Amino acid sequence: MDRINYNGRVAIVTGAGQGIGRMYALELGRRGAKVVVNDLGVSRDGSGMDTSAADKVVEEIVAAGGQAVANYDSVATMAGGENIVKTAMDAYGRVDILINNAGILRDKSFLKMTEEEWDLVISVHLKGAFCVTQPAVKVMKKNNYGRIIFTASTSGLYGNFGQTNYGAAKLGLVGIMNTLKLEVSKYNIKINTIAPNAWSRMTADVFPPQFEDKMNPQFNEPMVLYLCSEENTATGHVYTMGAGWYGRTAIVSGEGLCIGDAKRPIAVEEIRDNFDKISDMSNTKEQESGLGMLSYMAPLLNG
Ligand code: NAI
Repeated sequence: MDRINYNGRVAIVTGAGQGIGRMYALELGRRGAKVVVNDLGVSRDGSGMDTSAADKVVEEIVAAGGQAVANYDSVATMAGGENIVKTAMDAYGRVDILINNAGILRDKSFLKMTEEEWDLVISVHLKGAFCVTQPAVKVMKKNNYGRIIFTASTSGLYGNFGQTNYGAAKLGLVGIMNTLKLEVSKYNIKINTIAPNAWSRMTADVFPPQFEDKMNPQFNEPMVLYLCSEENTATGHVYTMGAGWYGRTAIVSGEGLCIGDAKRPIAVEEIRDNFDKISDMSNTKEQESGLGMLSYMAPLLNG
C-alpha cells in the first residue's frame, strides 16, 4: 500500500501534550510533518499550567527522528491563537494542517451549573476553535492549501448527562464547520469534524474500566490523519469513532409535509393532525447549505 506522508507539511495540534492529541502529533512527526505541539498543560478542569506536557511530546517526536516545536499558549484567546500560528510561521514558515483538539471539562447538571463553568468550557472548545482557526486560515488561504479538524463529541451530537456546557460547545463546532467549509472551499481547504472516543483522563470515570485497553486513543489517530492528508477530498463531514470503529454522522432532514398554499394561515390542529408525517424520518436528506432547505418548500414557494 502507498504510504501516506506529510513531507513538507506543517501541522499544528492543540492540546497535544497527552491523550488523543499526543497520538496525532507523534504520528504526524513519524510521517514527515513538522509539528507544533501546543499544550497549556492544564488539569482536566482547565486549572493550573505545566509547560512540560508539550515539551515531552516534542522530545518524543525529535527522538524518533522527526521535527517539532512546543507552544504553551491557551487556545481560548485570540492572542493565544495568533501566537500558536506565529510559532509555526517562525519555526517552519507555513501552516498546512490544524487539528483543534484542546479541551477541558466542567461537568455539572444544568440547574447547578455556574456562569463560570459555562464560560470556561465554551471559551476553550468553541471560542478556542475560532481563535486558532482564523489566523491559521489566513495562512492557508495564501498557500491555497489546508486541512482542518474540529473535535466535537457525541455529547454534543446526542447529549450526555451533566454536559450542557460541553455539549453546546461541541455541537457549536459543527456549526462553525458548516459555514467555514463554504467560505474556504475555493482555497483547497478541507474541514472536517470528529467525535472521538478514547480512554483518557477525560473519560476515565465515564467508560467502564474494562474498556481501558480497548479504547486506546491511538484508534482515533488514523482517521484524523487521513482527513489531514493531501489525498482526502471530503469536507464538511462529521466522523464518529472509537476502539477501531469508524462511521459518518450527519445532520439530515425528513421529507416533511407541505400544508396550505403559502397564503392562508395554518392552524395548530393541522400540525397536530399531520404530526406523524411531519416527524417521519424514513426518507432523509443532507443539505450542502442551509439554503438547501428551501427545496422542501418549493411547491409552496413556486406555486
Ligand atoms: P485530555 O484531557 O487527555 O487532553 C486534552 C489536552 O488539552 C490536555 O493536555 C490539556 O492540557 C490541553 N488543554 C486544555 N485546555 C487548553 C487550552 N486552553 N489551551 C491549550 N491546551 C489546552 O483529553 P482527550 O481525551 O485527549 O481529549 C482530546 C479532545 O477530544 C478534547 O477536545 C475532548 O473534548 C475530545 N473528546 C474526547 C473524548 C474521549 O473519549 N476522550 C470524547 C469526545 C471528545
